[in-house]
Amino acid sequence: MKRFYPIKKICCIGAGYVGGPTMTVIANNCPNIEVRVADINEERISKWNSTKLEDLPVYEPGLDKLVQKSRNINLFFTTDIENSIKNADMIFLSVNTPIKTKGIGAGQASDLKWIEASARQVAKYALGHTIVVEKSTIPVRTADTIKQILLSSQETSNGESEPKTFSVLSNPEFLAEGTAINDLQNPERVLIGGDNEMAIESLSFIYKHWIDSNKILKTNLWSSELSKLTANAFLAQRISSINSIAAMCEVTGADINEVSNAIGMDSRIGSKFLQSGPGFGGSCFKKDILNLVYLSNFYGLEKVAEYWEQVLRINIWTRDRISKIIVEKLFGTLSNKKITIFGFSFKANTNDTRDSSAIQICKNLIEEGASLEIYDPKVNKSQIEIELKSNSSKVNSTKEENGSWNYSDSLYQAAINSDAIVILTEWQEFKEIDWSIISSTMRKPSWLFDTRNIADHNLAKSCGMKVWQLGTCLK
Ligand code: NAD
Ligand code: UGA
Repeated sequence: MKRFYPIKKICCIGAGYVGGPTMTVIANNCPNIEVRVADINEERISKWNSTKLEDLPVYEPGLDKLVQKSRNINLFFTTDIENSIKNADMIFLSVNTPIKTKGIGAGQASDLKWIEASARQVAKYALGHTIVVEKSTIPVRTADTIKQILLSSQETSNGESEPKTFSVLSNPEFLAEGTAINDLQNPERVLIGGDNEMAIESLSFIYKHWIDSNKILKTNLWSSELSKLTANAFLAQRISSINSIAAMCEVTGADINEVSNAIGMDSRIGSKFLQSGPGFGGSCFKKDILNLVYLSNFYGLEKVAEYWEQVLRINIWTRDRISKIIVEKLFGTLSNKKITIFGFSFKANTNDTRDSSAIQICKNLIEEGASLEIYDPKVNKSQIEIELKSNSSKVNSTKEENGSWNYSDSLYQAAINSDAIVILTEWQEFKEIDWSIISSTMRKPSWLFDTRNIADHNLAKSCGMKVWQLGTCLK
């Protein structure tokens, strides 16, 4: 008896930070399966197809080599969504699911218009039996919506030789940016939620090409959808917790690194995700917690909603707290002061700036009148421009009382004549900075604000710099 549907062709709708790397890893590990990654964004697709591997639209260590190995062999990036769907036995939905900006649930609920649009495309073009896999992070019970859309096309599929049928699975992605390839190659678990045993086994069969079967968890649809939101909420909660304690350290004389180390050695707590910083960024933590808050309120669980909302409040407070400290230390005004920002991406080893704490902190400093010089090894000027223009009419304005920003592509050039350096992202090259060179070109008193606790503080101090590090009492 057949235990799973044979999968020869896969289509992924959405060639973003998840769709691109995930499908590249599947194509590499399953040479007998043809993988098509389809997107409406022509520019993005042409970058995925660029012969210059440094032009790939997503920067992830190790990704370029894997793309090179499989591209145009069994991995294709295309804008031909119709044919990619028609030919596929299995379709992953890996489109964006941001927070709604208007209408009911604005500011909290997920905007599912991209999920709905792609489900409608699948409903229209799919042939025969198709397994539809939710890869995007979505609210609990979204599989119901997808099923309804697909079901309506089953009813209207007259005229086709074979009736259209669908199975819907939830298969949330747990990769973190910057370590995506390793996370996909060696995941701690793969989660598959569904109610059709054969469909579950088919997806499981794909992962078994490189992942041990005991790491593949099978649950019902709703547990799988809720586990994804819960995992992100728990991770973000740890960061807000440690950032709240960092503030306590600064006023009590404790040291956040010592406290993190001491509590992390308790195996019940664990040592990961205890690194204090300028607040969590990225495209998902905030939106997934907001989603949890919205769902909790929707089901009448107001106290649950309030509980999770607090994680976000501490995050915003952390960003503003750091901005205020910089202003205070620089004698209460940033007018006519040059501040050099090291790092704009939301974490190291990615070019992603979505909801990066750097955005809010830079905006705060510009509003205080600072002239910023921004350097990031992977984020380009136009990306910074998009982020700093959004939601703030004041930023980049020509009014004299407001500050300004400038982009620099050289770390050491950026620092010349500045009053302060602010480290916002934990890039490796910031750990290796020669502070004797930097300090010799800065105005005095010269400050280093290290929100990631990564710089060689002793060297900076020995070069005459004043150093503020997060979670440590200023001596
Ligand atoms: P992204 O914005 O980088 O990519 C989404 C892509 O989908 C875009 O290129 C967009 O053009 C395309 N798209 C949208 N509608 C389409 C349609 N109808 N047809 C074809 N293409 C369409 O987003 P992402 O970061 O890859 O995230 C995708 C999902 O995965 C989100 O739900 C996110 O929460 C989740 N997720 C993201 C990460 C991460 O690290 N970024 C990790 C785990 C889960
Ligand atoms: C996070 C999760 O780690 C992934 O499992 C999940 O799949 C993904 O969200 C998602 O759903 O999008 P990501 O946002 O890429 O991954 O990166 P993280 O490493 O989780 O970092 C998120 C933010 O928290 C960054 O701004 C980072 O600097 C910050 N962080 C992380 C800290 O401030 N301290 C820490 O100890 C860890």
